[in-house]
Amino acid sequence: MSRMFVPGPVDVDDEVLRAQAQPMVPHRSKEFEALYRRAAEKAQQLFFTQNRVFLSASSGTGFQEAAVRNLADQHILSCVNGAFAERWYEVASTNGKQADRLEFEWDQPVSPAAVTEALKKKTYEAITIVHNETSTGLQNPVREVAEAVRAASPETLICVDAVSSLGGVKIEMDAWGLDMLLTSSQKCLALPPGLALAAVSDRALAKAETVANRGWYFDLVRMEKHRLKDSSAATPAISLIYALDMQLDRILAESLEARFARYEALAQRVQEWVVTHGLSLFAPEGYRSRTVTTVRNDLGLDLSDLNAFLMQRGMRIAGGYGPIKKDTFRIAHMGEIRMSDVEALLAALDEYLKK
Ligand SMILES: Cc1ncc(COP(=O)(O)O)c(C=O)c1O
Repeated sequence: MSRMFVPGPVDVDDEVLRAQAQPMVPHRSKEFEALYRRAAEKAQQLFFTQNRVFLSASSGTGFQEAAVRNLADQHILSCVNGAFAERWYEVASTNGKQADRLEFEWDQPVSPAAVTEALKKKTYEAITIVHNETSTGLQNPVREVAEAVRAASPETLICVDAVSSLGGVKIEMDAWGLDMLLTSSQKCLALPPGLALAAVSDRALAKAETVANRGWYFDLVRMEKHRLKDSSAATPAISLIYALDMQLDRILAESLEARFARYEALAQRVQEWVVTHGLSLFAPEGYRSRTVTTVRNDLGLDLSDLNAFLMQRGMRIAGGYGPIKKDTFRIAHMGEIRMSDVEALLAALDEYLKK
């Protein structure tokens, strides 16, 4: 079996792939409603929330758009320290919102103190932050940032992108007081791409009701109306929801805590290998991603040559992303990856370096 150490789409287990081949049912039917309800209820456990979880036939960026269109009339504070945070800022501004950037160096985490300062200077309806920056392999201190927001500006809604971490790292929506927490299917959930999940708080939904021009497809108020009937306004991605239903059973059978521990061990092993092989990590200690390791290419390795070597062994890693594309490469360890897979990859990398 091949192993893709790339940050999505990741390998999908055969059993989960096959779950998609179940016969279609009408989405206005008891069978579909039961499937939708089952999947959405199980998903609440992943989000550590009692809030509703929406399923969308889109990738995660769709819910980035939903957040900015529904949760602010105008004023959004976008924390930017990586490519996907930058995208969220662009999503906000191209949707006509007055988004202000709160910028940090890409190898530095979002600072709660800087967030507090920004919120003292201006009132923001919502703040956006990426939990796990897939470009830089940096995990932002979302819990601490959320605490800072609550203290400085309790009305500001806290929107978190956990596209490349939810399901692999513990993110406690309710305990941390988050208002919208979104993810995509093709990363830690190890599903095919095309489905996005987002949990939304009551107060966020109440705010959405007051916001004009929410659009149609990503209108959270419309989504809620249909979710209450265990369905969606437009035709749902039924095959993907079959896969989600099965994959959530598998994830819960592994147990969330065991899954988080597995990710932690994989991240530690890869990151320890990096620093003992003449390479260095892009993210600073204490803020390193548990799902994807961004490596500074200090050895000047030729990524396409390295990947050609790895692909002969049924593996591949990812290049850098965005402005740090040339200077970095990435080893993802999310989804179905086990320690034996990581050991096989590191052995191949050792062999390559000896060449
Ligand atoms: C942190 C982060 N946010 C957002 C996205 C965009 O997600 P999607 O491609 O599912 O729209 C990605 C994709 O890699 C990501 O890593």
